[in-house]
Amino acid sequence: MSVHGASHHATSLTPELEALRAVADHARHNAWCPYSHFPVGAALVSDDGRVFAGCNVENASYPAGTCAERVALGTGVAAGARRFTRVVITSATHEPTPPCGICRQALVEFSPDLDIVAISPDGRVARWSLSDLLPAPFTPASLQNV
Ligand code: THU
Repeated sequence: MSVHGASHHATSLTPELEALRAVADHARHNAWCPYSHFPVGAALVSDDGRVFAGCNVENASYPAGTCAERVALGTGVAAGARRFTRVVITSATHEPTPPCGICRQALVEFSPDLDIVAISPDGRVARWSLSDLLPAPFTPASLQNV
């Protein structure tokens, strides 16, 4: 079953998604989140098939904390990746966790049509295109209108 948008059904995942879920969960278990107690993991796939992991990294100065998705994005960009096809996000919550607004903006810089798959521990899946979660995005092209 393919699951989109707000539908959160337990469903069988493809082998690729299961592998990405494992990468994200491995990172999630390393999350540093002593303030929120809300661990998140991400597995971001570049267009050449590499997978970059991230977890949220919080800080005693709360605004200095970063999300799992942006940690994975920074790791990918530092490794030379510039386009991404998919991100799998795992959380510990019953409902799958969508990416926050800052992460949507960070990701749209590189991949406006990114496939976003959020998976809960009990296998509930929510899936969106980034273009649906961030309509009318501000992108590099937006800077050319001056
Ligand atoms: N968080 C993420 O890492 N990714 C998301 O998609 C949602 C929120 C983190 C930020 C913070 O460390 C904690 O979850 C609670 O907001």
